[in-house]
Amino acid sequence: MATQLPRTRVIIVGAGFSGVAMGAQLKQQLGLNDYVIYERSPHLGGTWWANQYPGCAVDIPSIFYSLSFAPNPNFTKLFPDHYEILAYLEDVARTFEVDQHIQLNTSWDKGVWREDTKSWLVELSNVITGEKFEQECDILISAIGGLVNPQPCTIPGVESFAGPVMHTARWKHDAVLEDKNVIVIGNGCSGTQVVPAIAGKAKNVYQFFRTSQYYFPRKNPNIHPYLKWAFVYIPGVMLAFRWLMFNLLERSVPMSRTDERGARLRAVNKKTSDDYVERTAPKEYWDLLKPKYNVGCKRRVFDPGYLKCLNRDNVHVTSDPIVKIEPTEVITESGKHYPADVIVLATGFDTGKMRMNIVGQDGITAAEHWDQHGGGAYKTTAMSPFPNFFIVLGPNAASGHTSVLFAVEAAIGLIIKLVRPILKGKASSVSVKHDYERQYSTDIQGALKQRVWASCKSFYINADGRNNALYPWSSYTMWWQARFPDMRAWTYSQSKTD
Ligand SMILES: Cc1cc2nc3c(=O)[nH]c(=O)nc-3n(C[C@H](O)[C@H](O)[C@H](O)COP(=O)(O)OP(=O)(O)OC[C@H]3O[C@@H](n4cnc5c(N)ncnc54)[C@H](O)[C@@H]3O)c2cc1C
Ligand SMILES: NC(=O)c1ccc[n+]([C@@H]2O[C@H](COP(=O)([O-])OP(=O)(O)OC[C@H]3O[C@@H](n4cnc5c(N)ncnc54)[C@H](OP(=O)(O)O)[C@@H]3O)[C@@H](O)[C@H]2O)c1
Ligand SMILES: *[C@@H]1O[C@H](CO)[C@@H](O)[C@H](O)[C@H]1NC(C)=O
Ligand SMILES: *[C@@H]1O[C@H](CO)[C@@H](O)[C@H](O)[C@H]1NC(C)=O
Repeated sequence: MATQLPRTRVIIVGAGFSGVAMGAQLKQQLGLNDYVIYERSPHLGGTWWANQYPGCAVDIPSIFYSLSFAPNPNFTKLFPDHYEILAYLEDVARTFEVDQHIQLNTSWDKGVWREDTKSWLVELSNVITGEKFEQECDILISAIGGLVNPQPCTIPGVESFAGPVMHTARWKHDAVLEDKNVIVIGNGCSGTQVVPAIAGKAKNVYQFFRTSQYYFPRKNPNIHPYLKWAFVYIPGVMLAFRWLMFNLLERSVPMSRTDERGARLRAVNKKTSDDYVERTAPKEYWDLLKPKYNVGCKRRVFDPGYLKCLNRDNVHVTSDPIVKIEPTEVITESGKHYPADVIVLATGFDTGKMRMNIVGQDGITAAEHWDQHGGGAYKTTAMSPFPNFFIVLGPNAASGHTSVLFAVEAAIGLIIKLVRPILKGKASSVSVKHDYERQYSTDIQGALKQRVWASCKSFYINADGRNNALYPWSSYTMWWQARFPDMRAWTYSQSKTD
């Protein structure tokens, strides 16, 4: 039934930063042109295409939220808006000719490892027409991201609502906010950015909290034209700024540890946040805005003007949960009715399980493998029964304190090193040894037990209590381990069994 596509050497799934950077490096470092990137959305960009809500911006300085091999002198602000990041990624895709390799509107549905041919049989489908395809490749790389699928709204009555209901990652640009009563559910990074951005337009903004967050003051200066000029014309200036920023961000790593120093640093940070609240927000909200859990347990929120905007007469915050949605109002647990024309779901993403439909050696699936291992992947990127399969920004790759792109590039560096012999025809498959994978999993989960993230409920922690999201060590360690990998952990098979 499925149409057979000609074999290709590498298939990458996902055209966000991870997929685009992976493609660029295959070309740059290995000279490979025979690869395809499949992307389910109608546009490249991943996160930065999906999130178009007002106020959406990076919260890691752009000088470091950019790719090391494609430095960008063009960012206008320290923390630029989402469209600048998207434009940058589009530029990278063009410059490195990655755009020609991207097939949009195409979903990756399954991958099956074939031991006889040492290749992956990949099932794909066109999301518009439903047409199915199959393609074989030597190497399969998942770059499918983690914050992709919006958390569905399960509040009773939502389907009866008369106005638009939109998740922050599915913004409806035709929804009118002017002079409307807007309900915002959630107060993570997305909720904190969207509220001040719409407060000036809406008649009223009613925001609903579930858990408090720690807020930190943040300035967002323009990048001065002289500095931009220096970025372009004085060699080394951009690199020096990047290096400086990297090290500055790294200084908050010790705060996540549960030792005495960590506790001391958290106490200082808690005071900074609480003082900022008292200095900036109306007194009636202080209690709501000063959490009781450890600082850093949930991602810290760098405030783009949220606390200040709570002083507006038309912005209202409550922790009284919505229990029912009616066509033109929402009703809370305490029985209050709030008028509603638009509902914004800033409720985050479904991060519960990895959506990877892969079948490896001896017919084992990723889900079965993770049941045995409790999730995770060796060095965030590989699993023993899945040869020639890699994940960019995989389990435990993310870090809350610095640019995710650093982890993306570290993984890509390791993957390039591992697949080089295969793409050069010197070997046919590579996989991580089972005992190395197991030991890594034990080490990482052991370290994570001694981090602050174990002390509260967040989307980092699975239903079974494991943290398969965050990297517990410093970025220096991550860099070192990717740059100088322990090659004893890997087995290559030399020839194909025909
Ligand atoms: C609003 C927001 C702000 C953020 N800000 C920051 C920040 O300031 N700093 C920071 O470090 N990080 C930030 N992040 C995290 C951000 O997700 C990463 O920095 C980075 O963009 C991830 O890139 P990625 O390519 O790995 O994943 P994504 O950008 O999520 O891209 C994955 C792509 O894979 C596609 N895909 C998924 N499954 C399939 C499939 N089965 N078939 C085909 N295609 C598929 C998706 O459609 C998507 O386009 C933010 C995240 C969000 C949501
Ligand atoms: N650059 C940036 O500044 C930026 C911007 C946006 C996102 N991000 C990244 O994206 C990640 C996700 O951020 P996000 O803000 O989209 O999601 P999030 O951090 O998961 O926050 C979701 C919010 O919605 C609340 N919520 C979820 N379901 C709810 C329900 N049924 N009823 C009431 N409240 C509910 C959550 O409350 P609980 O806390 O109680 O669960 C939380 O306040 C962040 O961690 C960050 O890495 C970064
Ligand atoms: C992808 O789908 C969108 C509709 O969602 C369509 O507008 C666009 O032309 C399609 N792109 C490609 C390359 O097929
Ligand atoms: C920066 O802007 C210049 C001029 O518009 C453009 O030529 C260049 O490609 C841009 N660089 C990046 C990395 O976006």
